[in-house]
Amino acid sequence: MIGKRHLAQTPPRLEIRNIIRSYDGRRVVDGVSLRVEPGQVTCLLGPSGCGKSTTLRIIAGVEMQDSGEIYADGELVCDTVFRIPPEGRSIGLMFQDFALFPHLSVAENVGFGLPRKMAGRDARIMELLERVGLAHHAGDYPHQLSGGEQQRVALARALAPRPKIMLMDEPFSGLDNRLRDGIRDETLDLLKEEGAAVLLVTHEPDEAMRMADEIALMRDGKIIQQGAPYNIYNSPRDKKAAAFFSDINVIEGTVKGALTQTPFGRFLAPGVPDGTKVEIVSRPQHIRIDFDRGGRGPNPTASDGVAARASVVRARFMGRESLVEFRMDADGSVLKATVPSVFLPAEGTVMWLTLPRARCFVFPKTG
Ligand SMILES: Nc1ncnc2c1ncn2[C@@H]1O[C@H](COP(=O)(O)OP(=O)(O)OP(=O)(O)O)[C@@H](O)[C@H]1O
Ligand SMILES: [Mg+2]
Repeated sequence: MIGKRHLAQTPPRLEIRNIIRSYDGRRVVDGVSLRVEPGQVTCLLGPSGCGKSTTLRIIAGVEMQDSGEIYADGELVCDTVFRIPPEGRSIGLMFQDFALFPHLSVAENVGFGLPRKMAGRDARIMELLERVGLAHHAGDYPHQLSGGEQQRVALARALAPRPKIMLMDEPFSGLDNRLRDGIRDETLDLLKEEGAAVLLVTHEPDEAMRMADEIALMRDGKIIQQGAPYNIYNSPRDKKAAAFFSDINVIEGTVKGALTQTPFGRFLAPGVPDGTKVEIVSRPQHIRIDFDRGGRGPNPTASDGVAARASVVRARFMGRESLVEFRMDADGSVLKATVPSVFLPAEGTVMWLTLPRARCFVFPKTG
């Protein structure tokens, strides 16, 4: 018996398998599979129109998939034959256009999904209002609250019935930047405490990096890469995945003997056949900049390749960092570099750039 128990795995809180949905013959969700554990936040991240909201609506049960299954704690919630209705799914919803009931007080809004005669109902309402810092507004009406406060009420309302699964669709997009960061962090704390499995939809990489334990990067209805934010950012699957998170620099080359030659020296392209065009992709914050020493560059280590001469085209102060654009002596191409704080060299200043190999990605050229 004990052996068996060790072997048995707890099924994930939420699992969807191979969900497909087409509109007018076009696959909008194209074979999406995902697992989310209790207390875990997974972000569905991708550009507008890639099928994020449709996926969420299918899980919520307000939209039907053409094929695929949804499970909660290992129990079937929905396939194409069997279907638990939305209200039977123990799912909390928080969407961008969350609407509080204007004729109900803040406390009544939070209690909306709780049975009237539930034991400890008022205590649960007050616990959540305290948790979102709005206990003193319990008797107020929604129009008396700011946008951010209303958002917190909506969150408390969604969490009140202790849903096993929380689905959030761009829940913070109506808020201004400064308010948003605070509310994101508070929301995250509360979600973790409540222990729901959270699937959060966003098209903003910053939001996903801030909120997610795991990011599922979506494109054209498919999840093209999935992993911890650190891994997705530092090991993007292709050029587009890299470009989704920051500006990128792209240097083109052609492979010969598993190497490609560039003004920055040679880059490894293991397993890529001779003659293949490749793109070497890097992020602007990873370019290393050195001053000109009487026409000589620095002596980089082997792992950093060769320094290349360039001159400043333009330098701008962006607040947290400075953005400097360089024109390469070798081929006239322009590369962007970001430097923390203030770094504003004059136009035409000659400098030497290096591309640390560990920070570069080599992809076969597409398109
Ligand atoms: N009911 C519908 N009928 C026809 N097409 C639809 C329907 N719902 C969504 N679509 C189409 O499916 C695609 C995916 O839509 P979806 O709302 O899932 O995108 P999204 O990833 O959430 O985008 P956004 O970031 O802009 O919210 C879009 O091209 C959209 O026009
Ligand atoms: Mg959407």
